[in-house]
Amino acid sequence: MPVHPLACADLINDHLVTSYENLPADRYLGDGHVYRYRTYGQTVLAPGELRWSLEVPFFQSKRFNSHAGGIHRTFAPPTAPVREFSQALALRSQERGIVPPGRFILGCHQIRVVASEDHTGLPTPEGFHQDGFAWVLIACVARRNADGAVTTVRRLSDASAPVYEGALGVGDALLLEDPMVEHYVSPLTPQRPGRAHRDVVVVTLASFAEEGHSV
Ligand SMILES: [Fe+2]
Repeated sequence: MPVHPLACADLINDHLVTSYENLPADRYLGDGHVYRYRTYGQTVLAPGELRWSLEVPFFQSKRFNSHAGGIHRTFAPPTAPVREFSQALALRSQERGIVPPGRFILGCHQIRVVASEDHTGLPTPEGFHQDGFAWVLIACVARRNADGAVTTVRRLSDASAPVYEGALGVGDALLLEDPMVEHYVSPLTPQRPGRAHRDVVVVTLASFAEEGHSV
């Protein structure tokens, strides 16, 4: 199966949760209204690794992201609790024997999507897509007053029946074999009147041999 559920509630702490309160806006949404906030950093996946590249641009080709691909996007760096969470989660995926041992380039995306009665939040404005990496982890850190944001994963070879469909709860993570599948997250709306948000960490793992990735 190209989708593996992983539990990560024990890796979530108050520092991680509060780090979402001051995230800068995603400047690449292109439609005027800001519904997504994020940071990005990169390191090498290895136990005890402390060196991070915190001002590297994030690039996806148009092939993998028709919405914001083809440009180098720069984001503010993630803080230490976020970096540590992403490393612990990625190492867990190796400890479980799913991701093979060895070094990978780890990309850490901290993302908050917000919604209100006036504005829906779009976790994946590009629709069904691949991220363009060997492995992708999506971990839910918080959901507040949130309806929707249902994740659907389907095989590239068979789009008729999803291999996963569900709304990630706090402490749920999904590990995707990204080359085999495409994924989509449905819009976020408030459950009750007021604001809603969904906080995730997306961890991408690239093999060193993959073209175009460097730390
Ligand atoms: Fe994605």
